[in-house]
Amino acid sequence: MRKSFLNLVKTLEVGSRLYHSGSNGPRVLITGGLGQLGTGLARELRKLHGPESVILSDIVKPEAEEIAKGPFVFADVLDFKCLQEIVVNKRIDWIVHFSALLSAVGENNVPLAVRVNIEGLHNVMELAKQYKLKLFVPSTIGAFGPESPRNPTPNICIQRPKTIYGVSKVHAELLGEYYHKRFNLDFRCLRYPGIILYDSHPGGGTTDYAVQIFHDALTTGKHVCYLRPDARLPMMYIDDCLRATIEYMMTPGKQLTTRTYNVHAMSFTPEELYAEVKKHVPNLEIEYKVDSRQAIADAWPMVFDDSSARTDWSWKENIPMEKLVDIMITNLRKVYAGDPSTGKLDAMA
Ligand SMILES: NC(=O)c1ccc[n+]([C@@H]2O[C@H](COP(=O)([O-])OP(=O)(O)OC[C@H]3O[C@@H](n4cnc5c(N)ncnc54)[C@H](O)[C@@H]3O)[C@@H](O)[C@H]2O)c1
Repeated sequence: MRKSFLNLVKTLEVGSRLYHSGSNGPRVLITGGLGQLGTGLARELRKLHGPESVILSDIVKPEAEEIAKGPFVFADVLDFKCLQEIVVNKRIDWIVHFSALLSAVGENNVPLAVRVNIEGLHNVMELAKQYKLKLFVPSTIGAFGPESPRNPTPNICIQRPKTIYGVSKVHAELLGEYYHKRFNLDFRCLRYPGIILYDSHPGGGTTDYAVQIFHDALTTGKHVCYLRPDARLPMMYIDDCLRATIEYMMTPGKQLTTRTYNVHAMSFTPEELYAEVKKHVPNLEIEYKVDSRQAIADAWPMVFDDSSARTDWSWKENIPMEKLVDIMITNLRKVYAGDPSTGKLDAMA
């Protein structure tokens, strides 16, 4: 499976160029690259195009082992000149714009979220336009609101989000689509569900419980859940998220009927996840102490309709819920046993 995906990737046409693995591939700058998703995407792209093909960037200090894997630079997305210098000096072809304040963090510091999520986006979009770069900006289930149909949520429907995170993501979707139409910017956007992974700590989103429960299962044996037992939300394992991103970025533009796509893999409630985790850790207990994140979840999609992604660029998930739980438990058991092959969790609480 992995081999056929790599072969596909090696031969796909990207924009007007044909990229091959090795040094001829695109040179990619990832902003906010030391968060949950950036290092995994860097690893997958480096496998395809070589270690030098991806420049990770962030405003936080990287671990020594991260630097050993490939180039890292400091880049504050609020500093246009700093980004411009990197794009020019490193001959960047694609920007993957990951830096953002996520939903719960954004609500706690709205002025900073406005700056990072909106001003930062303006900077990368302007740069991508000026230097004719391909630009990927992830959106989210949080880009919808209580007026949107929730089960399923179509690719195009009313979007009136009630968090600054959601508002900034709708802004990114619309501005990107406008720049595409007006300036021919190769803008691409996927609306990710909540992403689940074991080797990084959650960034302050409303779906974080679905990662934390695995750690609690293998440490304290008790999970305190801030959502109601029946709060259904779309989720995806990290491998599917990274593969979706790379497959979409590699799809020739002429195949796309839109620039912003929902992508779906599974959808579950805390109660359903608890029952599945309990199959592996029978003594796990759960207590529900609902907080302000429930109001955020109440306005979000329960199930994504991603039929456009499936039709236009053959999107299909590989990892259903049972497999995800198995992967998380198996790998976290190794992590907590100190197996060096699984990496370390740094600040995971
Ligand atoms: N993780 C998810 O479940 C999920 C779901 C949907 C969408 N997304 C989107 O994917 C992207 C990556 O998410 P993540 O989970 O890795 O987020 P994260 O919070 O883990 O990482 C964000 C990174 O942005 C960096 N950052 C903050 N301010 C910055 C600035 N001024 N300049 C440069 N970098 C700055 C932070 O240091 C951090 O490393 C985000 O845009 C997020 O909205 C994530």
